[in-house]
Amino acid sequence: MFETSRDFSTSVAAATCARNDSEKVMKKIGILFGQEHSFPPAFVERVNQKTGGKDIAAEFVRIDKVIQGEPCGYDVVIDRISQDVPFYRAWLKNAALTGTAVVNNPFWWSADDKFFNNALATKIGVAVPRTVLLPSHQLPPDTNEKSFRNLGYPLDWEAIFNYVGWPAFFKPFIGGGWKNVYRLHNREEFFRAYNDTGQLVMMLQEEIKFDMYFRCYSIDQRHVRIMPYEPRHPFHLRYQTEWHAPKEILQKVEEGVLRLNQFLGYDLNTVEFAMRDSVPVAIDFCNPAPDCEAAWIGQANFEWVVEAISEMAIRKAREHVPGRDNLSWGKFLQAAVTKCSLSDLA
Ligand SMILES: Nc1ncnc2c1ncn2[C@@H]1O[C@H](COP(=O)(O)OP(=O)(O)O)[C@@H](O)[C@H]1O
Ligand SMILES: [Mg+2]
Repeated sequence: MFETSRDFSTSVAAATCARNDSEKVMKKIGILFGQEHSFPPAFVERVNQKTGGKDIAAEFVRIDKVIQGEPCGYDVVIDRISQDVPFYRAWLKNAALTGTAVVNNPFWWSADDKFFNNALATKIGVAVPRTVLLPSHQLPPDTNEKSFRNLGYPLDWEAIFNYVGWPAFFKPFIGGGWKNVYRLHNREEFFRAYNDTGQLVMMLQEEIKFDMYFRCYSIDQRHVRIMPYEPRHPFHLRYQTEWHAPKEILQKVEEGVLRLNQFLGYDLNTVEFAMRDSVPVAIDFCNPAPDCEAAWIGQANFEWVVEAISEMAIRKAREHVPGRDNLSWGKFLQAAVTKCSLSDLA
């Protein structure tokens, strides 16, 4: 296991000193979650243990009404579930408008997708597999052929297949959990798989043949946990692997993780890197509610992630300023708003 984060205790101590004691108000941190089991209670317990529950306290979010423009009662919310519950996403945007620091930024998460992520990576110096976007095989609801008069038919399959090469990965532009992920060897297999994907918008992607593979937590755009990972092992054994990675490789991986998350603006994410000829190639880096289940990721990783997310939530609570935006916005958006080029911020 490789750990590259800063010392947590110093960051909290610094934030504590910066606070103006005369303005002490109770800050509330909430966690919004679904079916997951181990992380939410561990997080609440850790935050309260650290703060003593006095000026900052954590709890499970509770919602019993949602009124436009009204604060939700939490200064910080850790969102683990709005990808599956549109009602929660809308609640979080209203909360953000009224000053809640939501992790992750619900506006950016709504706007983002994996194809855009890859495209952005090509502009900020992070290697990614050659990737193309494809229209869904079936028409989306309430559309017909007339809705697609801008599309060339057939697509330029020759150029697409030549660019990507075989074998290739074929996977949704939004999603996770290895759902609808195919490994394909030729055009016949491709058209068979395409036929099965219905209304999903898919990407076709070059396969990266790797020597090592890492799954990395990125927290607060500053803490990185690089976990050796073997995707070819059965699910329950994937974290039980050791790569003997030189320091320079780990450093490149860490830099890539931070760069991607600082540009995207995610405070909580995982990045998968496949190492090809000592170059980290980013495979999957749009996981704003990554698995944190102790049984899957192992006790040591779980402990690290509970600590890092608790520290982030406490820092955000201390730095929270009522009555204004307290979200993180990535460098991609900062460049757009200030009309500078991405390379100026790289
Ligand atoms: N371009 C690729 N090259 C090599 N392996 C890949 C590639 N894309 C996906 N994979 C493999 O498939 C797995 C699932 O794909 P991924 O993009 O991570 O989808 P999901 O978001 O569903 O986890 C990855 O963990 C990796 O092992
Ligand atoms: Mg993945």
